[in-house]
Amino acid sequence: MDPKELLATYALNYLREKKIIGVGTGKTVKKLIEVLSKEENLKKTVLFVASSLDTEIELSKHGFKVISLLSAIQPEIYVDSFDVVTKDGIMIKGGGGALLREKLLTYFSKYRIFIGEFNKLKDSKLIDVPIEVVSIGVSYVKDKLEKMGFAVKIREGSGKMGPIISDNGNAILDVSVKTENLCEFDRMIKTIPSVVETGIFCKELYNKIILANEEGRIEE
Ligand code: 5RP
Repeated sequence: MDPKELLATYALNYLREKKIIGVGTGKTVKKLIEVLSKEENLKKTVLFVASSLDTEIELSKHGFKVISLLSAIQPEIYVDSFDVVTKDGIMIKGGGGALLREKLLTYFSKYRIFIGEFNKLKDSKLIDVPIEVVSIGVSYVKDKLEKMGFAVKIREGSGKMGPIISDNGNAILDVSVKTENLCEFDRMIKTIPSVVETGIFCKELYNKIILANEEGRIEE
């Protein structure tokens, strides 16, 4: 059984009756949109808010109505996935580079659920954290972090030269951070000029994490 499909179908229970839904980015969300697209009535009744251009295109392709982030509309519910969740319940997002808009929508949504496979639950001591940085500041920020003892990589596109540029025109750094210091690191790094946001989602940013596996086990 495909756990992404299982999670998407499960998440549908949270979305029924909702009129304004925020959605994340990535393969899990793509599967969710595919599952939602079978619910024809949603195409007439729901306004979606997307956390990336990719998601906006995907929603539009399936005939869903999408409203701009500039509307400042507050989703009744936000659904997304994550790259990693620690045993303390801290999520790392931004594998797809959409972390800023994802955090923006998470912050302004009334209820937030995150869906992912059990194998995203990690117990490692170090985790790679994506950081969105204004492009012109990227070398200063990299130097500063390296002097502080962090291992830092500028994210590059696959098969293409140069750094990845986010939907917001910024670069992404991947920084190796001790798992026990994630939320503290999140606060600290945002004091460095040109750091825009991190992919660290501490507990106050979500209501529920739902996990599933290939055997069909599902847990909230
Ligand atoms: C994108 C994200 C995604 O939620 C994360 O990368 C997981 O993606 P996938 O559903 O493809 O496993 O944070 O910025």
